[in-house]
Amino acid sequence: MGTTTSRRYANEAYAITARNVTFDWSGVPLHYLPGEPVATQFFNFMHLVLPEGERAMAAALAEALPYIHDERLREEVQGFIGQESMHASSHEGVREHLERNGVPIQPVIERMQYFADRVIGERGLTGRAKKQWLKERLGLYAAMEHFTAVIGQWFLDSEEIEDMHPMMLDLIRWHGAEEVEHRNVVFDAFQYLDGSYTRRTRTALLAAATLIGLYAVTMRYLVRNDPEPEKAKHPILNYITATRRGKIPSFTVFITEMPKYLRPNFHPSDMGDLDAAIRYLAISPAARAAESTETESTS
Ligand SMILES: [Fe+2]
Ligand SMILES: [Fe+2]
Repeated sequence: MGTTTSRRYANEAYAITARNVTFDWSGVPLHYLPGEPVATQFFNFMHLVLPEGERAMAAALAEALPYIHDERLREEVQGFIGQESMHASSHEGVREHLERNGVPIQPVIERMQYFADRVIGERGLTGRAKKQWLKERLGLYAAMEHFTAVIGQWFLDSEEIEDMHPMMLDLIRWHGAEEVEHRNVVFDAFQYLDGSYTRRTRTALLAAATLIGLYAVTMRYLVRNDPEPEKAKHPILNYITATRRGKIPSFTVFITEMPKYLRPNFHPSDMGDLDAAIRYLAISPAARAAESTETESTS
């Protein structure tokens, strides 16, 4: 059991709750980052692979709940499950949008379903083996959550993506802000149930390698299958220049973040800008609409 958990939680006064957001896809162009055929596919990659991964994570955290007896951490885990489930369903709207526009997304979805169900999913184990597999998954997800928080922060900070279709920009910034908001939850659940530095290292390396592989395969597929006449003529060059122009985060994040994540005294609350995330959630059109719907239904 981690020794830092109770101290962390005494200091962690911010409550995590899911916001019941909705998004309207009408009028969203296929290249919703104007003139950026490859950068748009980076965002499509996220929209397509996240739902399965987030559901698998929410399920693993729900499985961990009976082992967590710290009330504050339990609250955080419950808030996390709600937020990730909402993220998963919000991104699914993109699937319909892409299919309507002739993007053959089924192979990507099937690969992710296989990955989430058969590779990182619950395997029907019992007893000690069940708990060991749960700890392993929490280690993997804690590392993945570090990457999503870093990329979420990038979405909030990047001015170069502000010409994106406003609804899509709000979708990724709302999601990015909640990733920053709940950045410590899986890490703390992992520390609470296990906290082994060896496992943290092994699972982080595995998580980075898995995400790089998934990213490369999916991006290649999406770029090749872009039905727009304005698709990229030189995709690799376009990818490099889009990164340089600040339209997408650099893929090197999976490597450069590793030494930080593997510092023995690392804690996710030391990184990111929670104030900026909360500020964005206060002005996000989707989050504000969700809030006013909740206020109406309770009054
Ligand atoms: Fe998420
Ligand atoms: Fe997350």
